[in-house]
Amino acid sequence: MMVARTVGIDDIATYVPRLYLDATDFAKERGIPPEKITKGIGIEKMSIPDAHEDAATMAAMAALKLMQKNDLQPKDIGFIHVATETGLDEAKPISCYVQGMLEQIYGNGSFEHIGAPETKFACVGATYAMIDRLAFINSGWNKGKHAIVIATDIAKYDLLSSGESTQGAAAVALLLKEDPRLMMYEPDSRGFGTRDDQDFFRPVGRTTAVVNGHYSVGCYLRDMRIAADAFRKNMLSSGIVSLSAGEGMIDHVDRIAFHSPFPKMVEMAFASFLIHDWRGLPRWKRIIEQTGPEPDRTGMSDIDFYVSEPYKQFRKKFTKTPEFTAEFEKKVKDSLEALKLIGNSYTASLWMCVESSFEVKTNDLAGKRFAVGSYGSGSSAIVCSFIVQPDYRQVVDSFSLMQDLSRRNKISVAEYEDLHEERLDPHQGIDAPRNEFVLDRLGETETDFGYRYYTFVK
Ligand code: HMG
Repeated sequence: MMVARTVGIDDIATYVPRLYLDATDFAKERGIPPEKITKGIGIEKMSIPDAHEDAATMAAMAALKLMQKNDLQPKDIGFIHVATETGLDEAKPISCYVQGMLEQIYGNGSFEHIGAPETKFACVGATYAMIDRLAFINSGWNKGKHAIVIATDIAKYDLLSSGESTQGAAAVALLLKEDPRLMMYEPDSRGFGTRDDQDFFRPVGRTTAVVNGHYSVGCYLRDMRIAADAFRKNMLSSGIVSLSAGEGMIDHVDRIAFHSPFPKMVEMAFASFLIHDWRGLPRWKRIIEQTGPEPDRTGMSDIDFYVSEPYKQFRKKFTKTPEFTAEFEKKVKDSLEALKLIGNSYTASLWMCVESSFEVKTNDLAGKRFAVGSYGSGSSAIVCSFIVQPDYRQVVDSFSLMQDLSRRNKISVAEYEDLHEERLDPHQGIDAPRNEFVLDRLGETETDFGYRYYTFVK
């Protein structure tokens, strides 16, 4: 018999490379007006991995931080589950490389009892992994052991392409357990929205993504709307929320974080979310007095509509209304403070937004509903929610993302291009490694060709 348990996120640890590319330097070099990137897209800095870093070292750094700050031992952990779209091997999961790195600290074989899968679904992969692991814990099959879900990615597009201004890198580790201190998951809330689409992908062998940029924005908005409708339906049918006259679903959500490929995308997503939620409510009359009527969408597909000029203009006017501004500032804005200094980090991005939201805002959030909107190209969205727990402050006090972001080193555009094109040997990085896992070398013999050797540098 299933026993009802409280499961969720107990703690979060983040890792961001120490190097960054300044968006203004980058824009000047590319002949783009800097405001297009800093204001139009909303990115001020992009984090760039050094030559000795990759998705596995970033993941191991986040996991080690999570273990150390919670005084965890390998015996406490049942799963290390990695989500990434920066896979390093077609067969071996990054989770196993992470296990090997952690065992350099905790002892050879110390994690041999764990399960260690890797999940892939573009940027939404970590949210799928989190739901899987929480369901496992909820079933009791975990026998009291915790799970670590790690999202790790390097967002990379071709040099001189329009996607280049939306790059970045980061990893985040989530500690999942029963009776979590940070956020309790509401399992009945989750809504999915999935379509077989081709907005963004990376064929085997390529290091950069193939992207249809404006189309991908439309896919994001379409899938998020499908998932938000499912979320609404689930919240109402399970009785978690009942709406009084004149209320929208967003009135029952106190905080929301979205996947952020670039901060402006989140503003667009939240605006579409509110337009959809508020249409038909008494407050809508006040909105369209300011914006004019919503454009006609007869005969248009969702994507055609979302990327059409009349809808974009309507949404822009909506974002200027005091009603939108108040909701955005109260529920979303803080989640983007870190993201504008990181850029895209694919699977990690949403969870960096969650950490940013907690770290920046000082209001009392205990007992409040925290929703997330996760999107991955290809394409799928998940909207689900959590309840912030009474002792969450104890956890948030140990967050240090904003401090870590203030201690990075700026690199030149030439140095960035060397790293992007992988012209530097792992031992010839820009910043000498210290207190971190590094890629030491790649195997060269018949039996270890391409195998990745990692070591911890003190
Ligand atoms: P673009 O063509 O370079 O830019 O592409 P744009 O012309 O659309 O301009 C961007 C904004 O800057 C516009 O604002 C301009 O008006 C404004 P908007 O009209 O949209 O409000 N602008 C200026 N603002 C101030 N001063 C100026 C100025 N000039 C223009 N002088 C695009 C931008 C994001 C499409 C491109 O960078 C790209 O392709 N990026 C990669 C794809 C992407 O991030 N897609 C997002 C949705 S898909 C997703 O999130 C999944 C993903 O993370 C992958 C995964 O799931 O694994 C990507």
